[in-house]
Amino acid sequence: MIIPIKPWLDLANSKGAAALAGRRSDAWNGLAMSSNVDFEESDLPFRTGPGGLLCANFNHRMEFYHDPILAPEILEAMQPVAGKQIFDGTLGGGGHAEILLRNGAHVIGCDQDQDALDYAERRLSAYDDAFLPVRGNFREMDQILAGLGIGHVDGILLDLGVSSRQLDNPARGFSFRENGPLDMRMDDRAALSAKELVNEWAEDELIRIFREYGEERRAARVAREIVKARAIKPIETTFELSEVVGRAIPKTSAKNPATKVFQAIRIAVNAELEVLEVALEKAVELLAPKGVLAIITFHSLEDRIVKRFMHRRSNPFIDRPEWSEPRSNPDFCFHLPSRRAIEPEEAETRRNSRSRSAKLRIAIKA
Ligand SMILES: C[S@@+](CC[C@H](N)C(=O)[O-])C[C@H]1O[C@@H](n2cnc3c(N)ncnc32)[C@H](O)[C@@H]1O
Repeated sequence: MIIPIKPWLDLANSKGAAALAGRRSDAWNGLAMSSNVDFEESDLPFRTGPGGLLCANFNHRMEFYHDPILAPEILEAMQPVAGKQIFDGTLGGGGHAEILLRNGAHVIGCDQDQDALDYAERRLSAYDDAFLPVRGNFREMDQILAGLGIGHVDGILLDLGVSSRQLDNPARGFSFRENGPLDMRMDDRAALSAKELVNEWAEDELIRIFREYGEERRAARVAREIVKARAIKPIETTFELSEVVGRAIPKTSAKNPATKVFQAIRIAVNAELEVLEVALEKAVELLAPKGVLAIITFHSLEDRIVKRFMHRRSNPFIDRPEWSEPRSNPDFCFHLPSRRAIEPEEAETRRNSRSRSAKLRIAIKA
């Protein structure tokens, strides 16, 4: 279900962008914003990013929510200048949205987590008409935009997975690091939680998700231990699950043996791969010519989906051994600035360990 939180204000007259441009120059004129300013050294809320675009300095923020990953690279790819409309399908703490807004773009910020929307709305309250938070699943981005009277956008950003805030909050049940109820739903209105999955799914189904989504070699042993444990009493907390998984996978390194199993359950609970595939198809229709699709992934399963999707649509011609000559590709619709994924620089991975596995892929609508 889609619940627009406030009515969308007139995008066409660029009222928001004009107001922001004024506020930005008033507030920051005269400040030395050198591109040499380091994230860690500066206490200014903004620094100059690629091509003179303003980039947020996230040392300066409200309470910590989530560090936006690959922010300068997103800025460079999306060129969020005044007049552009960007759909941020994973608003989270609004870190990426803020740098897009700060440079003049209008942002429709979608998240399925009410806590994220509440936080981002407070953080971005200065952007008035230029920012519209919407509660929903990015799988429904076509309906969300149609409901707002928007046919096409100039950019779509998906920064996949969960935020640090969700991960670090024991009450959300995503992590084995602290004890909490087994939940793992990004959207607390969803019917399926990790508790239901772990206690009610058939052993075969558990094996399948541990193999497919966790790439866990000992999937069958883990599933067997879970089935044995839940026959005695339901598994209700993250520590209980972690302990049961530990019976099947001995600890051999600093890594918690339950890491892959927790990842698999989270992916299944939130149908993360299915919603990604649906959203990518919809993005093709929703992007205006030269519109930018930017996707940040955090594990190989997601990255493989995005890579295949973009590569398949970026060759104007396809060839097969049985054909006498190449034929035009009916799926062609993107130019790729690079066929390779962009990864964070060392300074970012040092500053934010969660960025280590991030990969950004960019496609530009033909
Ligand atoms: C990694 S965080 C995004 C952080 C954000 N880019 C920032 O800079 O603060 C991912 C967010 O996307 C949301 N999310 C993940 N999958 C979603 C989906 N299918 N639909 C809507 N929101 C989703 C999560 O609830 C979470 O808040």
